[in-house]
Amino acid sequence: MTATSTALRILSADEVLTALGELRTRQPVQYWAFYSSQLGGIVTDPSLMLIPFDDHMVHRGHGIFDTAGLVNGRIYDLDAHLDRFVRSAASSRLALPCSREEMRSIIIRTTAASGRRDGSIRYWLSSGPGSLELSPAAGSVPGFFVMVFAGLSYPERWYTEGMRVMTTTYPIKPPLYAVTKATNYLPNVLMQMEAKAAGLDNGVFIDPAGHVGESSNMNVAFVTSDGVLRHPKFEHVLAGCTSLRLLELAPALVRQGLIAGVEVCDVPVAQAQQAREMFLLGSSVRVAPVVEWDGRPIGDGRPGPVARALLQLLDDDMHRGDRLIDVPY
Ligand SMILES: Cc1ncc(COP(=O)(O)O)c(C=O)c1O
Repeated sequence: MTATSTALRILSADEVLTALGELRTRQPVQYWAFYSSQLGGIVTDPSLMLIPFDDHMVHRGHGIFDTAGLVNGRIYDLDAHLDRFVRSAASSRLALPCSREEMRSIIIRTTAASGRRDGSIRYWLSSGPGSLELSPAAGSVPGFFVMVFAGLSYPERWYTEGMRVMTTTYPIKPPLYAVTKATNYLPNVLMQMEAKAAGLDNGVFIDPAGHVGESSNMNVAFVTSDGVLRHPKFEHVLAGCTSLRLLELAPALVRQGLIAGVEVCDVPVAQAQQAREMFLLGSSVRVAPVVEWDGRPIGDGRPGPVARALLQLLDDDMHRGDRLIDVPY
């Protein structure tokens, strides 16, 4: 920070570039490639991965995003993530900058430019710069951005010992906003910060009818006391690509006799708290068992067999399934 006694100078472009570089030196990041439609290409220096301050996504939160995984040189389930991206664009009244096919191709080519074989690929759509108004600037051009980065990392303990969660005191997003993957994650951020401040791993949103919603950037599912794998309906939470895929794969566990069935339904909190198993699901966390919720154990308070089996199903699909795109490095 500039000391208050130091005169505030007007900086040259070179000084700005130097300052941006120093920022990244002080706080190193693992961002490997960034495409910007506004720049018309890809940069690999994190200090140049920028978006104009007056972009509507920055100052009004009018933007959407999605994230797909990069696993062993292949992109996992990109089409499901892109379908959701296009749906989120429509409900956010955001015009696409180009066709879905072109965005798909830019994502794949940016990944190739990163040279990396494992990580995450996040991409955003904004309504563009041009004013500080509430509505998008007249004539603004939608911006498309792709970032290839190391991805979110979670403690190994979550998988070996299980997670401890709390019911958040923050209200769940109304359904329209919950099903749209917009850049406004304030409730999600506050929920996670609240849980961490309480010494816990994450929070859970409950809807006004007393049904389980979702977690900060993860879905929630249960094996209820009757042995059925139950997942909350997708009308009031984000349609997680991980959840949707696992719901397709889980019948294999019914055939193995590990679960009694699979159901997407309202899950009342009272039923959820009596569950044998509880887990958080998402592209970054994959499948993490929850062993304690609001200070009470879930099941026997240890990670259960269904969490392990679901993680195995997902890992197989991410490494050997039919939803992988080869990156043309
Ligand atoms: C609010 C929210 N719910 C659920 C999920 C899980 O979705 P996915 O499995 O597509 O990562 C995410 C992650 O994107 C999320 O942000």
